Amino acid sequence: MNLKDMENLYLARQSCRSFSTRPVDRTLLEEVCKAALLAPSACNLQPWKLVVATGKTKEALTPCLQRLGMNRHATAAPVLIAIVAQQDANPVAKKAGEFIPFDLGGLTSHLILAAESAGLATCILGWRTEEKMCEILNLPQGTLIPAVVALGYAEEGTPIREKKRKKTEETLLFLD
Ligand SMILES: Cc1cc2nc3c(=O)[nH]c(=O)nc-3n(C[C@H](O)[C@H](O)[C@H](O)COP(=O)(O)O)c2cc1C
Repeated sequence: MNLKDMENLYLARQSCRSFSTRPVDRTLLEEVCKAALLAPSACNLQPWKLVVATGKTKEALTPCLQRLGMNRHATAAPVLIAIVAQQDANPVAKKAGEFIPFDLGGLTSHLILAAESAGLATCILGWRTEEKMCEILNLPQGTLIPAVVALGYAEEGTPIREKKRKKTEETLLFLD
């Protein structure tokens, strides 16, 4: 894969807000998650777990993502993947702990791009009620779950939107 291919992947990936209810093959789902788990992390601590919710667990999780009428589009998505922090008690982990949000962000990026390359659509969902999610996912209260990724197939005919991004001059600086 060259840079142009990568750029095309980045351009095609967009937050999906019209999922079809078509189920996702379990093997494909596993392959996408395994690819994402190759993401880099501080001291290679991999302070994370992907908790893949389908079926009843997914149904239970959906209302946790719908504060203030947000994220109704997640209802149709057949899969919700919780991005969960796994903190470790060892001293290196403590030192590298400040990077956990950074590491989880990288993991999420890997996940959504791996999914896109497999023909799957995603939407990162930051609106969430962590307390209730911990209960549903059998995680200790206080576990950091910075986001959930809704995953599935986009509704047929969903157009690829033009990317709205700040001007490059505002976000890219070269200093010689
Ligand atoms: C941390 C984070 C939280 C987000 N939360 C939501 C959300 O709760 N609901 C939603 O529809 N989109 C959410 N998004 C998607 C952004 O709105 C989207 O990435 C941005 O508008 C750029 O559009 P694009 O992903 O289609 O390129 C979130 C994205 C990130 C990175």
